[in-house]
Parts: sequence; C-alpha cells; structure tokens
Amino acid sequence: MNTAQQVESKRNAGYHAAGMVEDGMVVGLGTGSTVFFAMERLGERITDEGLSIAGIPTSYQAAIRARQYGIPLSSLDEYPEIDIAIDGADQVDPNLNLIKGRGAALLREKCVCDAARKVLIVVDPTKMVDTLNALVPVEVLPFASASVSRRLEALGAVPVLRDGVKKDGPVVTDNGNFILDCEFGAIPNPQDLEAEISTIPGALECGLFSAYGEKIMVIVGEGKGCRVVSLH
Ligand code: 5RP
Repeated sequence: MNTAQQVESKRNAGYHAAGMVEDGMVVGLGTGSTVFFAMERLGERITDEGLSIAGIPTSYQAAIRARQYGIPLSSLDEYPEIDIAIDGADQVDPNLNLIKGRGAALLREKCVCDAARKVLIVVDPTKMVDTLNALVPVEVLPFASASVSRRLEALGAVPVLRDGVKKDGPVVTDNGNFILDCEFGAIPNPQDLEAEISTIPGALECGLFSAYGEKIMVIVGEGKGCRVVSLH
C-alpha cells in the first residue's frame, strides 16, 4: 500500500527523470507505478513543448499507458540502442545493484536496460537498502519450472510459483512464461548469485540487475524534491 507521501515521492522522481529526456531521444519505458509519473510528464512535454521521442515499452502495461499519454512507441528491433531508459526498482543497494520484477516485467526490462546508454531508476526512499534482501523473481520456461525450482533450491532459495490476481493459476508473463519468487534472505554478493542463476537451463532471466551500476543514475523522490545517486 502506497502512502500519500510515497506517491508524492514517486511523482517527484518520475517527473525529474522525464525532465532529463531530450528532443529526438529513444527512451526505454519501464513498468510500474513510478514510471507512470515519468510517462505522464513526458506526455505533457510532448503536448506543451513538441518534444519528439520514440518510446520502447518493457511490457503491455507500459505500452498501454504510454499510448494513453500520447507517447509514440517503437521497438527494440527498430532501435537496438536506446539513449535513455527510465525504470523503477524494488530495491537498490549502495553499489546500485537492483532487484526488479515485482510487476513480472523483468525479462524485457533487462533487455531494455542492457540496450540503454544511460538508465534512470526512479524510486521512493523505501527502496534504498544497505543489502538486497527482497524476493528475487525468476522468469522460467513453464516446461522447466520444476527442474529450475530444484536448481534454485540448491542455491539456497525457497522458490514459490507466483499466482495470478483475478486469474486462477500461475501468472503468465508477457512472454508466456512463469515466475518463481525466490527468498534468498540477505544477498551480499548479487553478482555471484545472478551469475549462478544465469547458468540454469530454463531460467530465462532473474530480477537481479548487478551489471549496470556504471550507467545507472538513481533518482530518489523525496517529500519536496529528489536526491540523485550515482557511482560517479
Ligand atoms: C516491474 C518492476 C518495477 O519497476 C518495480 O517493481 C517497481 O515498481 P513501482 O514503481 O510500482 O514500485 O520491476 O517488473
């Protein structure tokens, strides 16, 4: 449940990120409630300033919302290199390692993050932690969900198949796969864990983003403005 203060923080972060977008840019559009505010402001800039951009959505949700805000959309096929991506996160550690995927969009989000020259992560202050410890979502091929689950258990996880809301049975991602939410406890070495998970056949992607700290700028929305965190 978002408090009014959290919503205000998310708005401030999203608006700040939208202000960093320049005319002519290709913009990755992440998924989730904080990115909505960035899209809202981008829509206003398109109307008010004639800002011209192409958005690359990371989910059906992002595409639907972007259309509502009048943001022209394109694809990763059309633009395999992206100028700037704006996305949310579930947790951020001091080295700018992330956990993402509450919205089950992690696979496309990581593709877009990887293709982007610069990545703006928009969060409220509750997302900033000393050590990552949230559930790590893993997108799995349905065919291999039991075998992937066993391999994740061997890495110390307690994987739980994510169930749908207003749908019986498992969540089916935008890519037609399942999600295993994995409780690992504290994750002091996210790079090692992400590397281990990436070796499991049928584990298509996990919500640990540990390779992008150098190009990430975290915009932490606060009550009256924003705090910007980067490694430089
Ligand atoms: C979706 C995500 C979201 O970006 C993340 O869950 C943050 O969402 P919100 O901005 O609503 O808190 O990773 O897969």
